[in-house]
Amino acid sequence: MSQHLLLPLAILAISPIPGAFQDSALSPTQEEPEHLDCGRPEPSARIMGGSDSQPGTWPWQVSLHQGGGHICGGSLIAPSWVLSAAHCFVTNGTLEPAAEWSVVLGVHSQDGPLDGAHVRAVAAILVPDNYSGVERGADVALLRLASPARLGPAVRPVCLPRASHRFVHGTACWATGWGDVQEADPLPLPWVLQEVELRVLGEAACQCLYSRPGPFNLTFQLLPGMLCAGYPEGRRDTCQGDSGGPLVCKEGGRWFQAGITSFGFGCGRRNRPGVFTAVAPYEAWIREQVLGSEPGPAFPTQSPELQSGLPEPTDENCTIALPECGKAPRPGAWPWEAQVMVPGSRPCYGALVSESWILAPASCFPGRISSDLPPRDLDNWRVMLPSRPRAERVARLVPHENASWDDASNLALLQLRAPVNLSVAPRPVCLPHPEHYFLPGSRCRLARWGHTEPVPGAGSLLEAELLGVWWCHCLYGRQGESVPPPGEPPLALCPAYQEEEEAGRCWNYSHWSLLCREEGTWFLAGIRDLPSDCLRPRAFYPLQTHGPWISHVTRGAYLEDQLAWDWGPEGEETETQTCPPHTEHGACGLRPEPALTGGLWPWLAEVHVAGERVCTGILVAPGWVLAATHCILRLGSTTVPYIEVYLGRAGASPLPQSHQVSRLVMSIRLPRHLGLRPPLALLELSSRVEPSPSALPICLHPGGTPLGASCWVLGWKDPQDRVPVAAAVSILTPRLCHCLYQGILPPGTLCVLYAEGQEDRCEVTSAPPLLCQTEEGSWVLVGMAIRGSRELFAAIGPEETWISQTVGEAHFLPPSGFPHWLPEGGDLCPPDMARASGSPRAALFLLLLTLLIQG
Ligand SMILES: *[C@@H]1O[C@H](CO)[C@@H](O)[C@H](O)[C@H]1NC(C)=O
Ligand SMILES: *[C@@H]1O[C@H](CO)[C@@H](O)[C@H](O)[C@H]1NC(C)=O
Ligand SMILES: *[C@@H]1O[C@H](CO)[C@@H](O)[C@H](O)[C@H]1NC(C)=O
Ligand SMILES: *[C@@H]1O[C@H](CO)[C@@H](O)[C@H](O)[C@H]1NC(C)=O
Ligand SMILES: *[C@@H]1O[C@H](CO)[C@@H](O)[C@H](O)[C@H]1NC(C)=O
Ligand SMILES: *[C@@H]1O[C@H](CO)[C@@H](O)[C@H](O)[C@H]1NC(C)=O
Ligand SMILES: *[C@@H]1O[C@H](CO)[C@@H](O)[C@H](O)[C@H]1NC(C)=O
Repeated sequence: MSQHLLLPLAILAISPIPGAFQDSALSPTQEEPEHLDCGRPEPSARIMGGSDSQPGTWPWQVSLHQGGGHICGGSLIAPSWVLSAAHCFVTNGTLEPAAEWSVVLGVHSQDGPLDGAHVRAVAAILVPDNYSGVERGADVALLRLASPARLGPAVRPVCLPRASHRFVHGTACWATGWGDVQEADPLPLPWVLQEVELRVLGEAACQCLYSRPGPFNLTFQLLPGMLCAGYPEGRRDTCQGDSGGPLVCKEGGRWFQAGITSFGFGCGRRNRPGVFTAVAPYEAWIREQVLGSEPGPAFPTQSPELQSGLPEPTDENCTIALPECGKAPRPGAWPWEAQVMVPGSRPCYGALVSESWILAPASCFPGRISSDLPPRDLDNWRVMLPSRPRAERVARLVPHENASWDDASNLALLQLRAPVNLSVAPRPVCLPHPEHYFLPGSRCRLARWGHTEPVPGAGSLLEAELLGVWWCHCLYGRQGESVPPPGEPPLALCPAYQEEEEAGRCWNYSHWSLLCREEGTWFLAGIRDLPSDCLRPRAFYPLQTHGPWISHVTRGAYLEDQLAWDWGPEGEETETQTCPPHTEHGACGLRPEPALTGGLWPWLAEVHVAGERVCTGILVAPGWVLAATHCILRLGSTTVPYIEVYLGRAGASPLPQSHQVSRLVMSIRLPRHLGLRPPLALLELSSRVEPSPSALPICLHPGGTPLGASCWVLGWKDPQDRVPVAAAVSILTPRLCHCLYQGILPPGTLCVLYAEGQEDRCEVTSAPPLLCQTEEGSWVLVGMAIRGSRELFAAIGPEETWISQTVGEAHFLPPSGFPHWLPEGGDLCPPDMARASGSPRAALFLLLLTLLIQG
């Protein structure tokens, strides 16, 4: 993972018009000047964040072609020599044959007939012996031309620095090339040579920036012979396809080549300046390679006062450039909130993403996104921005190409006629790069998006906490799939809304965007523009997948690196995780391994009855808890007690990051058909709970004993501290159970045998449940303890009809295992065995023996 952003800048290939160079390929050379002059363009006359250069400004710039297309840049240093980067020619440790390469000189635009340009074949490629990869330095190469270049106004060599030459921190220099204009965004036609002004950064300042690990631990140790140039705030940089090209600085009327474009972490990112091979340290190596070649490259001496200039600061501050986007005075007062007014329709809310562009749902502009023509009434469209007295006018509407069929791409960009002055307001929101990983537990807000309906109450202040990717991915029913790891775009982002007093209502408003905060900076993380039912959590389409499209269209939206990356000590989020099978909308019985918050059982509830005792409850649906009747309703009591239910607790002290939830119980439901004291009670909660790592319903078992499952009694060590403990048990076969407890068992009772030494793990007064984890991984509720017993449980299965009718959303798994209702008659049991002998374990042992002998 640490490699995926470290990009040697030589990937892009531009294919020129076929045959464009053929005529001049082997034209005879002209006379060369006796004394080679260097670094002086004829007085006359991408690079990211750069601009078209004027023809003739950079006459030493060459384009290196392989297979008919531009691969790398280079610089002419002598009539027969070109300087470039080793990584352009070395693949997999092997130097490519010189014959595959050609050098195009004097070219400005690579589109169309290349007037004045000429081509030379390459006779030899020379790379330092110890070059072994861009990140290990020595990324330099020399190309000997098969015949000398034809010097002229558009073809001149650059000056080389001597080893003693100093390019002082802060020097303004220029990088040039035909590379990408942004990450993954090739230079558009007509492929005009791009130039960008970059500042040389001191070694200490650059190392300081590259020492920040970032979310994927991308630190980098600069080596001697590397040189950084760029800006801490990024935005101007070299990019793919610029590799091998020169970084030149003007001194005393001449241009010296200070660096060779080598690599970067992305392009133009904040705090990630471009890394160049410093040319000065290679004076001796270059001289050695070109020995005997006349005329050779020129190494003019640096003027002494420049050389003895200010010494390089060695203890520079590690001042990290913070993004200029995403700052809001307070949640809800969003300085990027834009209202797009289209005649004849309601205002549509979007977000300012750069000085000239608004992002909004494409569905706000129906009928305008399907045709290629611009809307006819665009002149009448207006955009209102915060703190701007007048409405802005709209120049262009660019819908996402997939907007009409893909809800996740329901986006359009609107360009303003005139850029706005960015300040405190309006200010753009930050956008995530595709590999952004919004941490579980991130604080997020819902903001207006599209045709938002008026929201009663808190409205745009709705606060949410992001659920882990596992929850979001698996809750939405991606059965058995592996969960996207950090660094890969998630399929959805799920916020759990903060519990509110008036919750319980279903937030049935469809139009929201999700803003998440990192280090005080807000990112537009997700969008949603769908009517939805009450399914929780809400899932938002992640915006990060659209970063490349947005930056391609806008050329300057604020895509920002991740600011927060504290993944906790366990790093558990980085492990590959899979969803259990049998999950579906409103999934049940999920408990991620390793458990997200250490030992949390998301369905285990504390049921506080009348403020005096605590029973175990199990969440069986977002609004329902199942408990044992005998614990909830005391014998003889005639009033319905006051009951509160708590989820997400583990004993008296709350778990870190736990998401505690409490609800009142509105009603207690008992099955009528079982007379006065049925074993199971359903508690209806005052409002639903949001699914979260501490509140998720369990699955229910429809009867019998699940085959191949491991089963547990889940309870508390004691009723006071209530730390959950699980005791391993086996569920006995109906026959053993029947024989062991002959005659005393109500129908549908399960008996268990505790694993050695686990009998006393949980106390019994709170009526603990019996759970099993199926072979597929889901957890199912099988029974609830019968009064006063450790071994006997009232089975859930026989009450399936009643539970399903009372709780529409209860999840019964398909039947499996063997039925536990006995054949009539007790004659299968050996006489007098069962209850005769002391403990159930001893009895069981005897019983098993007898049955085996009989069998
Ligand atoms: C790189 O070289 C190694 C060994 O020389 C070889 O096994 C491997 O297939 C090569 N990889 C590529 C992409 O050529
Ligand atoms: C390569 O070798 C030269 C000369 O021995 C040395 O100065 C330079 O530091 C080496 N570079 C790397 C990257 O090992
Ligand atoms: C980050 O990378 C450095 C150097 O590669 C390594 O020593 C360190 O353990 C890494 N940290 C983490 C958290 O992976
Ligand atoms: C170091 O930081 C201080 C305060 O942030 C600033 O005034 C100073 O200019 C910085 N020095 C350098 C060398 O960047
Ligand atoms: C549109 O959808 C196609 C097919 O799914 C996909 O390949 C393409 O990248 C999408 N376009 C954008 C801009 O995301
Ligand atoms: C933008 O703001 C700056 C500083 O406040 C001001 O000098 C400039 O005139 C403004 N430009 C426009 C186009 O309003
Ligand atoms: C959500 O709203 C729509 C229309 O406003 C309504 O038809 C639907 O029943 C609502 N759903 C819920 C669960 O309230």
